Amino acid sequence: MNATDFAAMKQAWTRVKQEAGRLAHAPLLNLFAADAQRAARLTFAAPRLTADFSKQHIDAQGFAALEALAQAAAFDSWRAWLFAGDVVNTTEGRSAMHWALRAPDPPASVREARAAMAEFAQRIRPEIDAIVHLGIGGSDLGPRLILDALKPLRVAGIEVRFAANVDGADVADAIAGLNPARTLLIVVSKTFTTQETLANAAFVRAWGPAHLAAATAAPRKAAAWGVPEANIFPFWDWVGGRYSLWSSVSLACVVALADGVFDALLAGAADMDAHFRDAPFAQNLPALSAALQMWNREALGHASYAAIPYLERLRLLPAYLQQLEMESNGKRVTRAGEALARSACAVTWGAAGTNAQHSFFQLLHQGVEAIPVEFIVNAGAHEGPPSHRAKVFANALAQARALMVGKSAAQARAEMIAQGMNEAEADRLAPHRAFPGNRPSTLMALDALTPQALGALLAFYEHRTFAQAVLAGVNPFDQWGVELGKEMANALLPVLELGASADLDPSTAAWVARLKT
Ligand code: F6P
Repeated sequence: MNATDFAAMKQAWTRVKQEAGRLAHAPLLNLFAADAQRAARLTFAAPRLTADFSKQHIDAQGFAALEALAQAAAFDSWRAWLFAGDVVNTTEGRSAMHWALRAPDPPASVREARAAMAEFAQRIRPEIDAIVHLGIGGSDLGPRLILDALKPLRVAGIEVRFAANVDGADVADAIAGLNPARTLLIVVSKTFTTQETLANAAFVRAWGPAHLAAATAAPRKAAAWGVPEANIFPFWDWVGGRYSLWSSVSLACVVALADGVFDALLAGAADMDAHFRDAPFAQNLPALSAALQMWNREALGHASYAAIPYLERLRLLPAYLQQLEMESNGKRVTRAGEALARSACAVTWGAAGTNAQHSFFQLLHQGVEAIPVEFIVNAGAHEGPPSHRAKVFANALAQARALMVGKSAAQARAEMIAQGMNEAEADRLAPHRAFPGNRPSTLMALDALTPQALGALLAFYEHRTFAQAVLAGVNPFDQWGVELGKEMANALLPVLELGASADLDPSTAAWVARLKT
């Protein structure tokens, strides 16, 4: 399986670069002036999600060049193989069927696992008032985000605590003040070998929680560790860790959210699956967004982008996206093992607005480099005081507008003089109070913060990540880059704990000597 024509991709990139060269420094406001339909033309819809790319340095011709790149990269074939359950994870010999976990008509094993979780939720709720969820990476970030995002839909009387870090403070906090006789410990680990999770699990198990469950693709290991077989909820090696929140990895969500909420999340994701699977590239939101990510990263040279949800309930989205995007596409060789000519993804970072406006937005507005921003808003009903809703929108729209419009030094100077400042002082301050503008952003709107819309949003990001990998020619489903550090940590442990000797570089040896004492 390798329909990707790397030579054709190289040619397609030449055209993409030419188009990008035409638009890289074009004033965004001029692009709007030249095309009265620009805002509408560059706004695209998918189930429960709308994205406006009109404040990006791109136009229809730029997207056409990216579509040619997608054709050279065999995007349609890779997408079909993904949904056929073919082995798209070529370095590990696996399919990537996370979409099957939320399919309206799933495989029998998935249906049984869902039913078992729902039945367990009914049985366990009266027995507990707390859940301690232990996992890390893909076994942590998704469920943590879901429970935070859908907090108003939680069942009453069950607190959920998470611990991921092997810094013992995390797990100590997770059990502090809880009653073990009323606590369910869920150990979540695809491999059931992850050092941090097993260390935390051993500590919490010794504390004596009344109930023990596991979510894993290695059920025999979980049983050997002591989880009762009836409480082991499986998932499968065709589910990548960072794509696993739709599985038993989210058992805590099934228990702690009201009945039907998790199913609604799955249904929303399934709608996005259908859109991504069926829509042609030119109307396919995850594919277009992936192409734009590549355009910004490699054609225009933006090394990072900021994801800024203007929803407090999505404050954990940037951390989730960091693993999804950078663990998937932080690669340096193609699927064929050749050195990549260009990066497959940018650095993902961000935090919730409006808070972020009062910290790093200074750099977004006046730093030397332009950094694309992805604003995410909730177009539906908001919680809390009704008067806050317009304020959230005013802030999100104003930030996108300020990034684009900017303010010249002359304008800043004139404003200061109009306010009564003398000319010399206005001259001195004008460069500090000027904004370069012409900085790109995308605005995405969820139709509401419902379980369905959250499911659609997370599936959108999964498919965007996959589509980006196809455009770059990499395998997004392996993560060999995390292995070397793990191996070295395992080798260093006996050196630190037992004083074993090891052949270390001088810097590490000096730190071992310092930290042992
Ligand atoms: O270290 C990376 C990683 O393998 C992630 O891909 C994964 O989500 C995480 O560790 C946890 O792995 P596991 O679920 O097997 O404990």
